[in-house]
Parts: sequence; structure tokens; C-alpha cells
Amino acid sequence: MTLKPMVVSVALLCALPALARDQIDKSVDVKVDALLAKMTLQEKIGQLHQLSGREATGPESAKRASQLAEIETGNVGSMLNVKGAQDTRAMQALALKSRLKIPLLFGLDVIHGYKTVFPVPLGEAASWDLEAIERSAQVAAREASAAGLHWTFAPMVDIGRDPRWGRVMEGAGEDTYLGAQIARARVKGFQGARLGSTDRIMATAKHFAAYGAAIAGRDYNAVDMSLQQLYEVYLPPFKAAADAGVATFMNSFNSLNGVPATGSALLQRDILKGAWKYPGFVVSDWASIKEMVPHGYAADEADAAVKALNAGSDMDMEGEVYIAHLAQAVKAGKVPQKNVDDAVRRILRKKFEMGLFDDPYRFSDPKREQVVLADPQHRAAARDVARKSLVLLKNERNVLPLAKSGRRIAVIGPLADSKRDLEGGWVVSDVRGDVVTLLQGIRGQAPGAQVSYAAACAPGCANADGFAAAVDAAAKADVIVLAVGETWDMSGEAKSRTDIGLPGRQTELFQRLKATGKPVVAVLFAGRPMIFNEIADQADAILYAWFPGSEGGNAVADVLFGDYNPSGKLPATFPRNLGQIPITYAQTMTGRPVVDEKNIVYRSAYIDSPNTPRYAFGHGKSYTEFGYSGLRLDKATLRQGESATLSFELENKGKVAGTEIAQLYVRDMVASIVRPVKELKGFAKVQLQPGERRRVTFTIDPDTLSFFNGQLKWGAEPGAFKLMVGSASDDIRLDTTLQLQ
Ligand code: GLC
Repeated sequence: MTLKPMVVSVALLCALPALARDQIDKSVDVKVDALLAKMTLQEKIGQLHQLSGREATGPESAKRASQLAEIETGNVGSMLNVKGAQDTRAMQALALKSRLKIPLLFGLDVIHGYKTVFPVPLGEAASWDLEAIERSAQVAAREASAAGLHWTFAPMVDIGRDPRWGRVMEGAGEDTYLGAQIARARVKGFQGARLGSTDRIMATAKHFAAYGAAIAGRDYNAVDMSLQQLYEVYLPPFKAAADAGVATFMNSFNSLNGVPATGSALLQRDILKGAWKYPGFVVSDWASIKEMVPHGYAADEADAAVKALNAGSDMDMEGEVYIAHLAQAVKAGKVPQKNVDDAVRRILRKKFEMGLFDDPYRFSDPKREQVVLADPQHRAAARDVARKSLVLLKNERNVLPLAKSGRRIAVIGPLADSKRDLEGGWVVSDVRGDVVTLLQGIRGQAPGAQVSYAAACAPGCANADGFAAAVDAAAKADVIVLAVGETWDMSGEAKSRTDIGLPGRQTELFQRLKATGKPVVAVLFAGRPMIFNEIADQADAILYAWFPGSEGGNAVADVLFGDYNPSGKLPATFPRNLGQIPITYAQTMTGRPVVDEKNIVYRSAYIDSPNTPRYAFGHGKSYTEFGYSGLRLDKATLRQGESATLSFELENKGKVAGTEIAQLYVRDMVASIVRPVKELKGFAKVQLQPGERRRVTFTIDPDTLSFFNGQLKWGAEPGAFKLMVGSASDDIRLDTTLQLQ
């Protein structure tokens, strides 16, 4: 594989979008160069060193003393895990004692909220609501920046197609198009239009790259894929973040085709800083530079430092190998001075853009912190996003919505009154606000109902001690609301699972409750797609709530009682069984496709399971019905470079207002490499009153029909394209064909 075609193709990919470089104030470059000229090699390397602040802001210790001394001598350029106006101010004051008084950057994992916890990112993705997602990131930025923080290590934009991998929770699901849209929305929410406002923070596109394709879904495992797949599926959300001006990238723990991403010049120099002309800086993942030694890619930590810096990994997060080995490496000629200078420039540029040289304390104002963190609007925003993230998977005989009075509702299950589990993983310690549990939400919104409660078992449901009491409560009720699922710590980093079913004895609990004959509404909490076939088959209704955050109980109750008509759609495929994994809607046809599930002899199929998933990408029900009709395509034939308009009429055929997420899928029927049977290329979220009809329009432009061919060249090939619109990837309502000349 020669680099040239790839760089050319990526240059095409980048053609002429609004390159971030243009946004950079040229005067900043002048200031950066002026400062750089004064810096010693040691001071430059200090800027590349990021220190975790747990010890430095903790109790007296030898390690604390040495870290404080490092900060004071200018050997630290950034800190993570320091938060709050007071602590950030104290650390900043230390850094300003150094010779050149270069301020610190403070970063933290503000993944889905700082004090106000929003749904986990996979849940937010289920809203397909870019404005709501942007708002969520904006609130997180407002709270974090008020707490002295400059930078979040989010959004995680890794495409995740393997639900065994616990970090699917942090991303936007399996789809490249949806993932790219959400990446852009999150960057805009965190950063605003331009860096420097004290109520926004720098964002990070992570983990670069293809971390979600870990073999066997086992976190940190190797990734091996064709460059065509890398370009087609995994890079576009990063490119979208870069085009949106994301301040930083974070590389990833995994090796990609044999090279650790942290040491990959292909990713960091050729693609990101070369073809994409990315002006920001790359921070390593936690100690990922040092980890190139166990990877077997670096002989020792000094070798790792050389390989990482030369490959374009600008800042060493908590690895302490740059500060220990780079000066010697430069003197020995193993690391060109220009590579160090480039890394330092990129970091200093962000500090200037954030206004930290003008006022290093501008984000660390205790009074402002107190006011902003008490803003009630943030909880209202969290409730709104949470409601929109909920996905109604099933609703037999319209058992939902529930009446608010005159009913006996038994709220049962280990997660029914859990606060911690509703927040999910990757939350900020010791600053979070209160959580409204499901039981509290139901009781608060249905004062006229008789609401009973039985936990049945503890979160995780290892034993059945409380089952009898739960069954007893169920027998006395008119309807059962069962709250089950993963505990908060069963997804996220280092939480891969070989069994993605309901933990413990929750399925048994469901079966005991179902046996009472009462209708069962299952509310499932999780950070990933789970497998729950008994509930899927036998529950009367199923609401997938992910981990909905601080206002989760209220949001779920809003949907259960019909105060919010559910609109969420799955951002990831839900398999029937583990054997189907990896499974995605965007699969290719094969030469022996299954046309009829009854005839699978010598077809691409299993003899013990259908190919179809339990729930498809894009699936999600409403309390009303939507009709699709009147498909129109203004040009049935297009010349290269031309665009067409596809439209159809959407109707709310039910009795309640509702919101439909209408999806556009495209299939390239014949191409130089086989193409997926469908790819999401657009969606429209449309709210309609009962009986209301609206014409929805999609633009079919050259990008809609383009892909990376076998030579990694981006473009649309002549031939037939099938255009499909529908309510889910497995619920296509209308289709037509377009010819490209
Ligand atoms: C972790 C994660 C990364 C996070 C970083 C800092 O290991 O991989 O997503 O931002 O370390 O906590």
C-alpha cells in the first residue's frame, strides 16, 4: 500500500470544506512564535506533559510535593482531574511562578454533564435530535467552565458495532452518517462558534481511531480492518469534528493494522495533520504512549517517547515519558527539534485562543461557579433530552400510556428506585446534583394512582430473596412497571461483556411477574444494546431508557403517562443472540442473500437463528401512527455533480401529536466494490398534530451517492441507486430508483 493514493483520496475527502486553519487568528501565530523563541527545550517539553491532579490537589504526600514543584518550574503544561474554581485557581497560581508564566490547561472527562447529568451519549443519540444534543453539550460546557475547566475529553465519536464492547455507551452508535452529524452537534455545543467564551470549553474528538472495532469486542484489543473500511465507516465522524473546529483530538489505546494509534504517523500526520490540515493538538490517551512498550512496538519508554512524538502525538497524558526522555531524544537527534516545536505551537495556540494569557484565572471564579451550578434551567434541559432519548420498542394493545389516576401501579425491580444507576458511567465525582428515580417520577406525576413498590432484588439481582414480596405486590396491582437492566458500572471503559443479557436473575423475576397475568411494562436501563428475548416476546410494552441521567425518573414517567409521546429511534442494532455479533443494518448483500427465511439452504444464513436482529437500527414506536405517501423525485437521471430533490408526504394518522424521525437510505446497486444493502444518508425529525400532513424533502447530492472505492478515492460511480424512505432500517415505506450517468 503506497501512501500517495491514500493522501490524494483524503485530500479529495477534505476538498474545500471550511478548514479550521482559516478560523485561526493570524495574530495568535505571531504571539505563539514570539513565546516559542524564548523557551528552552525543557520548557517546551514541559508544555507536552499532562499531569493528573489527584495527588496534587490531595492530602500532603511526597508525590504531591514533587508534583507541585514540577508545576512551579514549568514542567507541566496541562492537568486533568482538577476541578472547581478554587483548586484550578491554586494550581494556576503555582504555574504562574514559572519563568515564562505559561498558564495551565485544565481538562476533565465531562462526557454527559458536569453537575447536571444528561443521558449517556448512546441514549442521547437515540433522540436523533441534533439541537437537543447540542444543548446538552452546551449545558455541560457552561457548568464545567464555571468550575474552572477549559477542556473536556469529549465527544467520543467512535463508531461502535459490537455491543460486547462496553464503550458503545459513550458514542453515537453504529452509523457513520448519524455519528458524523452528532459529532458536529456535540463539538458546537461544547465550543460554541469560537473558542474563548468563558461559558464554553475546548472539546476533544476521540479515540482516534477505530477503537470501537476492537476484535471480539474486548476493550483495548487490536483492530484490524481494510483501509477502505477505515475511511468509509470510522473516519468520517472524526472528519466532521475536525471540520466543526474541534480543538483537540485524542488518540486511542488500540493498535490499528499492527501499529498502535498513539504511534501511528498514518493517522496523526498523514491523515489528520496532513490531508485534513488539522490545526489543533493531539493528546494521548491515558499513558497510551508508555503502553507502546507492552504493545511490543517500543523497546522501552524512551523509544516510546520518540515514536509517539515523531508520529504526531503532541501531549503525553499521565505517561510521564515525554518529560523523562524527550530532551535526551532531541539531543541525540532521534526527535527533530521541529517536531517538538510543532507540538508546542499547537498547544500554546489553544491557550492563547482560550484567553489564558490575558487572564489565566478567567474561568476560575468561585462566585460564578456557585451561580451557574444552581441554574434550574439545566435540569429542565436534562429532562427534555432524556425524554427524547427514550425508545418505545413495543406497545401491545396500547397498554401505554398509563392513566394517572384510578389505577394500581406496582413499580417493581432493582433499578426502580436507584439513583446511581440512572446516571450511568463516566460521571464527574462529588459534584453531581440529585437524581430523580423512576419510582419518584411515577409517584410525583400520578398522585391519583395507588403506587406500590418492591425492589425484588438489589441492582444486579444476584439473588431472589425479594421476589415473593414483588409477586405479591404485582398480584394486587392493575399494571406492573418493571425496572431492570445493567447497573451503571456494567458499561463504559474496561466493561466488555461476553453475555449482554439481563444481569443476575432479572429474567426470572420478569417471568414470575408475568405469571401473575397482569400487564407488564418493562423499562430497561443499560449503556448498550442488551439481549432480552423473554421480555421482548412476553412483555406488553418495552421502553428502552439507556441511563437517562439526573432527570431520568421524570423523563420516563413523562413517557409512561403520555405527557411526552416517545420519539426515540435505536442508534444501534439489537441482536437476537451473541452469535450474530458483529451485526449491522449496513451489511452487504453477499452472493447468496436470504430472500425467504424459509429457504436458507446454501444461503448466507445460520441454521439456528434468523439473520434479522431483535430490533433494527432506526426502530422506535410512537403512541400514534405515521403514514408515508406521495414519493417524488424531481430528476430520475443525474449527471455527475448534479443534485436531485426527493420528497414525500408524512401524515400523523393517529389521535395524539407525535414526532417521527423519517429516515433516508440509499443503495448503490452496482459498483466497483460491493456496497451495503442500505446506508443512512439523511433523516428528518418532524412533529405533527393529529391528522396533520407535511411534505418532507431530502436533497440527493453527489456526496449522498459517493463512497471510498478500492483505491480510497471518494466519488459517485455511474449506475442505478435505490432511494428509500422509512420509519426504520427494516421499515421502508417508499422507494424509487435514480440513475447517475
Ligand atoms: C481513559 C479513556 C479516555 C479518557 C482518559 C482520561 O482511559 O480512554 O476516554 O478521556 O482516560 O480520563
